Amino acid sequence: RRALGAAAVTAVVALAAATFLPTGQAGAAGPSLRSLAEAKGIYFGTAITQSDLNNSSLTAVAGSQFGMLTPGNEMKWDTTEPSRGSFNFTPADRIVSFAQDHAMKLRGHTLVWHNQLPSWVSSLPTTQVKAAMENHITTEVSHYKGKLYAWDVVNELFNEDGSYRSDAFFNAMGSGYVADALRTARAADPDAKLYLNDYNIEGQNAKSDAMYNLVKSLKAQGVPLDGVGFQAHFILGQVPSSFKANLQRFTALGVNVAITELDDRVQLPATGAALAQQASDYTAVINTCLAVPGCAGITQWGVGDADSWIPGTFPGYGAATMYDANY
Ligand code: G3I
Repeated sequence: RRALGAAAVTAVVALAAATFLPTGQAGAAGPSLRSLAEAKGIYFGTAITQSDLNNSSLTAVAGSQFGMLTPGNEMKWDTTEPSRGSFNFTPADRIVSFAQDHAMKLRGHTLVWHNQLPSWVSSLPTTQVKAAMENHITTEVSHYKGKLYAWDVVNELFNEDGSYRSDAFFNAMGSGYVADALRTARAADPDAKLYLNDYNIEGQNAKSDAMYNLVKSLKAQGVPLDGVGFQAHFILGQVPSSFKANLQRFTALGVNVAITELDDRVQLPATGAALAQQASDYTAVINTCLAVPGCAGITQWGVGDADSWIPGTFPGYGAATMYDANY
């Protein structure tokens, strides 16, 4: 955190250890997180929003240290189709251009989600939701056809007890909306990897059991599904001990896994001891991905602490990323 960040230094050491790269001081002249990750066959990514593009300190780090980019908000339904049939890809296109300019890959986030969903969708008669969802997916995925590594097709579909979230899609179509969304996305871009993405599924629990059972059933039906995204919004010291075994049970079903929104929130002000614990949490996450064949990569949610969603949502918490407010 003083130079590149204690957690980042530890992450570099974790990535470098098995690649026989120098493990000394990480910094501008040292190997990037991106190159270390790529040398191990995984990616290291981040999320940025449109306004982040105006912050040159942020973009310098994003464009050099990360090899994968997720738009933080700009591909969500409220931005891309704010009213029925009226599409706006301008904000997301700017982020796609930034990624292309820096030879970064892209994760699309997200097509079907109860949140950041314009009210016209939730107000539709249930008989019209399927057509609206399919049109949304087809139009957005077609717009980015050939440009994205992966799509988070359905986001945050389960409640904590493993039941389906009763959002507009489930209420209209039942659980079959998930397979329908995946098939629609595959038809629009056969080359993008298709993911389901959720939080609090990193350890083995009722919610991850529900995701596991869904993936098993979708694969048995031949539904196109390539991976499961584990958001990994952790609390300091609470990376689940079952994380690795849980990822392994998913890859055993024939899907990839990815860590899609990593952060590790700390009670403020962050003490040195807390940041040391955070460094070991980040190390544990990276080592878990490296230890699981089929773990495609890791994305941190935001570049630095100043860009993180944590302080706004969890007052009194922050310092959740590998970079402090000065990058
Ligand atoms: O665009 C408006 C702006 O016009 C207004 O002035 C401002 C005032 O509050 O709000 C702006 O909208 C905010 C939007 O981000 C864009 O900045 C929303 O209030 C705010 O709620 C929204 O937060 C986003 C959040 O998803 C919403 O669910 C975060 O930036 C984004 O990081 C976060 O990302 C999610 C993932 O998509 C899914 N997993 C959880 C993760 C963290 O919540």
